[in-house]
Amino acid sequence: MSIDVGIYGATGYTGLELIRLLAGHPHASIRFATSEASAGQSLRQSWPLAPDLTLVPSADAPLDEVQAVFLCLPHTRSAPLAAQALGRGVRVVDLSADLRLDDPAVYAQWYKVDHPHPELLPRPYGLPELGRDNLIGAECIANPGCYATSVLLATVPLARHDLLIPGAPLIVDAKSGVSGAGRTPKQNILFAEVHGNFSPYNIGRGHRHLAEIEQVLAAEGSQAGPLIFSPHLLPTDRGILSTVYAQVTDAGAARAAFTTAYAGEPLVRVLPDGELATLRHVVNTPAAALSLTPAGDNLLIVVSVIDNLLKGAASQAVQNFNLMWNLPETTGLAAC
Ligand SMILES: NC(=O)c1ccc[n+]([C@@H]2O[C@H](COP(=O)([O-])OP(=O)(O)OC[C@H]3O[C@@H](n4cnc5c(N)ncnc54)[C@H](OP(=O)(O)O)[C@@H]3O)[C@@H](O)[C@H]2O)c1
Repeated sequence: MSIDVGIYGATGYTGLELIRLLAGHPHASIRFATSEASAGQSLRQSWPLAPDLTLVPSADAPLDEVQAVFLCLPHTRSAPLAAQALGRGVRVVDLSADLRLDDPAVYAQWYKVDHPHPELLPRPYGLPELGRDNLIGAECIANPGCYATSVLLATVPLARHDLLIPGAPLIVDAKSGVSGAGRTPKQNILFAEVHGNFSPYNIGRGHRHLAEIEQVLAAEGSQAGPLIFSPHLLPTDRGILSTVYAQVTDAGAARAAFTTAYAGEPLVRVLPDGELATLRHVVNTPAAALSLTPAGDNLLIVVSVIDNLLKGAASQAVQNFNLMWNLPETTGLAAC
């Protein structure tokens, strides 16, 4: 089987990673790649190792020639293209936040703009290790946020086993490499601002990924209190390390909850007692790693690591694409 695909936003960090993966995917064939700023140029001018694809503006993308598209665009830009593609029977994996939240009012609250296509909601949330039944054969999948992926892998098993103490805050201290902010230049991600520095941002209840994390935890029956989520900008190019402080009814029972949840999962590793998860466990790979450290009977510290551009974006999008087409889930991921 060969599936013709298009990539919108091919010059961005997630788009480039996707192109790299899809170029080596045995069942995908890239038919177009879009850029507004670099339309008409070869993708090689954006990234020397890229295939020699001529970039087209999204308005000229030949949708009729593909069966699936990946949307690697800013939020609000994705939804109109998702609507257009679905209207023509083309399947969609959206890497932006546009399809992640079930309720357009929650989207407006967090993204400070009305949802451009509320009729598209809700869509399956594509974190396969937490449930893939509604992803298999889906016509459209919302790829999760990078921080959200790291936090949900570290907390959903606790919610499912009723281990979270009702009402107790769930505290997450998270750090991301600079590519998490995208390739579009901004002052706070300039080399001279980031190098030798380490900065918190949107701490407490300010980061947009809170909305999707809380949506999933609520659906999993979590009775935990408020999520306190404090992200930091790490002076490295890629990788997310989230440290979760979970107040639990029985820290001793937590390991079984995680090993059960991820038994047989090739891309999520629960590290043995005493080994702590680090970025080196996962950077440039499609995998996640978790370490579990009880601190007394009722506090569990989970360290969750992923590569933000892979498990946090492009390789997870390929997992979702594979499920959509009933292919083995890790097809095409050997390249990373
Ligand atoms: N970076 C991460 O770690 C990460 C992880 C998970 C999800 N995401 C999400 O994935 C999406 C892409 O992120 P990214 O980091 O790859 O962003 P990026 O590096 O800033 O790239 C954005 C891409 O979108 C295109 N673009 C920008 N404005 C556009 C517009 N108005 N209309 C059409 N195309 C436009 C750009 O193309 P030109 O400038 O060439 O025209 C570029 O190809 C975002 O929604 C982001 O939140 C990112």
